[in-house]
Amino acid sequence: MLVLGIESSCDETGLALYDSERGLLSHALHSQVEVHAPYGGVVPELASRDHIRRLSPLLRQVLQVAQCSPTTIDLVAYTRGPGLAGALLTGAAFAESFACALGKPAIGIHHLEGHLLSPLFSDPPPAFPFVALLVSGGHSQLLDVQGVGNYRLLGETLDDAAGEAFDKSAMLLGLPYPGGAALSQLADKGNSGHFNLPRPLLSSGTLDFSFSGLKTAVRTRVAQAQQEDRFDDDFRSDLALAFQEAMCEVLCAKTLTALQNSGRQRLVVAGGVGANHQLRNSLKVTLRESDVHIYYPPLEFCTDNGAMIALAGAMRWEETTCKQTDCRGARQKIDLSGGFSVLPRWPLHELSPPGASYI
Ligand code: KG4
Ligand code: ZN
Repeated sequence: MLVLGIESSCDETGLALYDSERGLLSHALHSQVEVHAPYGGVVPELASRDHIRRLSPLLRQVLQVAQCSPTTIDLVAYTRGPGLAGALLTGAAFAESFACALGKPAIGIHHLEGHLLSPLFSDPPPAFPFVALLVSGGHSQLLDVQGVGNYRLLGETLDDAAGEAFDKSAMLLGLPYPGGAALSQLADKGNSGHFNLPRPLLSSGTLDFSFSGLKTAVRTRVAQAQQEDRFDDDFRSDLALAFQEAMCEVLCAKTLTALQNSGRQRLVVAGGVGANHQLRNSLKVTLRESDVHIYYPPLEFCTDNGAMIALAGAMRWEETTCKQTDCRGARQKIDLSGGFSVLPRWPLHELSPPGASYI
């Protein structure tokens, strides 16, 4: 089955062609960083306009690279939510129209399900079940994943997402948007032990996170240093490192507890913050004594991309048509009468089968 994947939930337009037998044939990505950087964050209206400009050229590109004709596409998968409403609508409208013109089915995919399944592109891929640590710009969650569409939420952030805290702290440290990777590079030059930052909810006994206090602690230190004229390169890199250490300690501790509680032997780490090398090292050290294997998507698929949407589309299509379950987001037949919609707020656990005793 040849699946076209389309991602447009935020500030990246990603398209990909995935064949369930031959694997990933091609993928293309356009990042809107330059569009939003002057504003220090994503401007939704500009994001929508840019997606519209990029979708057709990127489609042509993936077809050309894969040497495929549009008529060979069996299914069009697109991100239905969560994300920016306007941005989602551009991808959904494009995908549904293209599928309609081809006379092929379209399927709306949950963005986080795409992230969650993206480590299946790694070699070897993880088998189900596994615990997933999903850390992106908009979400921070620990999930117990029993299979495609079967996700039990173990814990999540009560306020800022991990990537959001990275981005906001990076901005406070004078780094350009989006700051996660830049903060990580700055931290590489820092020395440990200069700041004592909070580890929010570390001993709460739950698997929930809270990162806004950590970001506020960075803000307070920065304001103080600026007032005392100490806001120099050494200060910035030491504080970046302290922030990253605090973040990694909390993420690792909660992940370890999730693995212990669930008894799972496999950990999947997905989402943009999963690219952070200190997090990767810390998880390795934390799980050194255990039998747990850690799986990451290839680095280029940690952040938003069309490949993960195509993969999730293929897997979900197979799952729903084989098992005839009625999960939101999947259609079992081509139905052009009802139009389509996007779901800017869409809890991942709503994908679990009806009757599952999941929160
Ligand atoms: O998964 P993603 O592309 O988008 C969402 O679904 O939100 O994640 C983007 C987030 C941003 O907050 C970005 O700063 C962060 O991932 N990020 C990183 C790194 N690379 C990307 N954070 C920390 N270290 C990195 N190396
Ligand atoms: Zn994402």
